[in-house]
Amino acid sequence: LRNGLALTPPMGWLAWERFRCNVDCRADPRNCISETLFFEMADRLAEDGWRELGYEYINIDDCWSAKQRDGAGRLVPDPERFPRGIKALADYVHARGLKLGIYGDLGTLTCGGYPGTTLDRVEQDAQTFAEWGVDMLKLDGCYSSGEEQAQGYPEMARALNATGRPIVYSCSWPAYQGGLPPKVNYTILANVCNLWRNYDDIQDSWDSVLSILDWFSTNQDVLQPAAGPGHWNDPDMLIIGNFGLSYEQSRSQMALWTVMAAPLLMSTDLRTISPSAKEILQNRLMIQINQDPLGIQGRRIVKEKSHIEVFLRPLSQAASALVFFSRRTDMPFLYTTSLAKLHFPQDAVYEVQDVYNGKIMSGLKTGDNFSVVINPSGVVMWYLYPTALPAQPWHVVGQQAPGKGFRPVLL
Ligand code: GLA
Repeated sequence: LRNGLALTPPMGWLAWERFRCNVDCRADPRNCISETLFFEMADRLAEDGWRELGYEYINIDDCWSAKQRDGAGRLVPDPERFPRGIKALADYVHARGLKLGIYGDLGTLTCGGYPGTTLDRVEQDAQTFAEWGVDMLKLDGCYSSGEEQAQGYPEMARALNATGRPIVYSCSWPAYQGGLPPKVNYTILANVCNLWRNYDDIQDSWDSVLSILDWFSTNQDVLQPAAGPGHWNDPDMLIIGNFGLSYEQSRSQMALWTVMAAPLLMSTDLRTISPSAKEILQNRLMIQINQDPLGIQGRRIVKEKSHIEVFLRPLSQAASALVFFSRRTDMPFLYTTSLAKLHFPQDAVYEVQDVYNGKIMSGLKTGDNFSVVINPSGVVMWYLYPTALPAQPWHVVGQQAPGKGFRPVLL
């Protein structure tokens, strides 16, 4: 969507996976969906180093509104849980240098059963969100037909644009249409939305992360070319810091989402997050790779019989990121390969930095064999930049055509 927004994948925090539709503020005041939760998370984003790293959006998900619209037909927040209203929350967030996201649903009801945005309400709701000072809208797709979605998602794009307020537009449209052509037209989608959910909701488990990764990798020929500055695939939230992932698995989700050029929307309790989870989420080089200005989504380039997979993301200035991922369940695996085997250009020389331990290796030639030790369900992630280029660099610019010919880009 050419609204000048989301030129790199959006980063921030989103309530849903961790806090769901917990509306029982009497029994659970600290964790229920209320303004307190968002005030507190905004404080954490602003004070614990997140904002400076780029985590700037704080996003409300479902279950924030009252069960009925007001007399004028406007959406209103639940008066008990959001007594100061969304505008006050937006002001609070903005005063801390952050941005506020909100959730709506194109349909009769949200997935959680709150008032939805039917086609006749699209303009009104866009106006309401803009008046409140909202900076991002996630528009879900429960309780609407394919036809209504084909009409309503582009209409909301126009309505948001007409408000004059810059609002990042996140669509769940493709997720409700199976995520694949011919039902999903990624050319249209990239013109209508800044990001889109393609597939199932993430849950707090490694199985869920793997099923999402598998779907995105299996369908990468369709999905990978659809992404770029202003238009991103969204494999759903980061669940690092919660209960379902081990340390290795947490590092894997971060690395794999980064090579997929995914939005980095954390859904975890930033008030109680462990130092190790925080360190993974606050890895500077990782974030720099995720936010690379070229915005080329990576791909899985190798799937070994040994259950090692290799992912590659081309980056600006002829750099690239490699993720060596182990799906093994036995012990750390010694994987030997070469950049030549990974289709890097002949006769180049690279400096390599390990993204997690920071170690630098100089003088790696394309033809050199090297080995990495990858822990079970873990990754080794490399950032590579050429120190000497081949005499005749080939030029491959922009999004890669589907198929076998995916190589690092030399610009
Ligand atoms: C759908 C979405 C989730 C979340 C819930 C809220 O399942 O995919 O991300 O927004 O609805 O009810």
